[in-house]
Amino acid sequence: MAPPAPATRPASRAPLRVALLGVGTVGRAVAEALLADTDRLTARAGRPLKLVAMAARSRRRLDGLGLPPDVVLTDDPTAAATVGGVDVVVEVLGGLEPAGSVVLDGIRAGRAVVTANKHLLAARGSEIEAAALASGTPVRFEAAVGGGTPVLRLLAADLVGMHVERIRGVVNGTTNWILDRMELDGLDGAAALAAAQAAGYAEADPSLDLDGVDAADKLVILSRLAFGVWLRPEEVQRVAPDGPGAGGPGISAVSRADIEAAARRGRRVRLVAEAGRSTDRDRSERGGEAGVEASVLAREVDRDDPLASASGVGNVIVIEGAPHGVVTVSGPGAGGPATAAAVIADLVAIAHGEGSTWDASPLTHRAAEAAPVGAAG
Ligand code: HSE
Repeated sequence: MAPPAPATRPASRAPLRVALLGVGTVGRAVAEALLADTDRLTARAGRPLKLVAMAARSRRRLDGLGLPPDVVLTDDPTAAATVGGVDVVVEVLGGLEPAGSVVLDGIRAGRAVVTANKHLLAARGSEIEAAALASGTPVRFEAAVGGGTPVLRLLAADLVGMHVERIRGVVNGTTNWILDRMELDGLDGAAALAAAQAAGYAEADPSLDLDGVDAADKLVILSRLAFGVWLRPEEVQRVAPDGPGAGGPGISAVSRADIEAAARRGRRVRLVAEAGRSTDRDRSERGGEAGVEASVLAREVDRDDPLASASGVGNVIVIEGAPHGVVTVSGPGAGGPATAAAVIADLVAIAHGEGSTWDASPLTHRAAEAAPVGAAG
């Protein structure tokens, strides 16, 4: 008997046409990934992923990319996103505007959106989700949390059978790198920050990393997928009343003395993002309303705690619940190529007709607070 023919995908499906907005560290790496290794990506996506338009603040950012001549180039994100025939808008601009407008306009025009913009999602996630539900277009955002560490789809879809009780994570690579330098190289906070900036890690405004704002944004996104609720970023506690760096947000007030004291107790200081279902006592104080408690605080962790193993810009996320107990994922939390790989994974998912990152994790609270579609753009 003849051996069975190898399974093959249908050959010539229409390309998925991509507009890429932003050519920073991540955007450039996305472009590089789309332009290299196209045969492999086409095979994995079942159709070509075709870069058709790019928005870059400066043409110099495009140097050396070897863009095909038919790619539309502009410095205007809206112009790139609305080029005729675009199927997917990839938003890696960062910031609230114009990112928010191009994302919402793209959704309302029926274009799929892939975004790495944690700040935008944390600030306007419920509005974006309502718009996506109304237009039936997918919105995916794996790159917004964990960089190249695949945690969002894992949480929302692969762990659909888990009743998540708590998430704990090191989700900001820059502060983890700084804490490493303070502990392992004996640098003080200012010197460690300068080294992080020289290495190209910190956000343009480093207080977003140091004060735990970036980690809080990521925790808002994780909480949406774990608990079905859009927290407001300001609901995430960022100033600890006690422990390392008490009184300052994030790691801003953590000193070498804090780190040395932790080491004497056999512990490490990590910036711990944590969210869990509220306790019965919390609920009764709120008149019975179920809720989510969330914080981003510098904490001492035992050396055998998985969070203690976060190294450099690495992220570690621990998901706790039944029936699994504990599921831990770790990987690169920042960096262009790794984060771009998460964007590419979302593009491949869209090419296969998958929906939004939150699809298997419907809203359970505050759905009524989502802004109506067509509200402020
Ligand atoms: N500033 C962020 C971090 C970049 O250090 O984790 C990746 O989101």
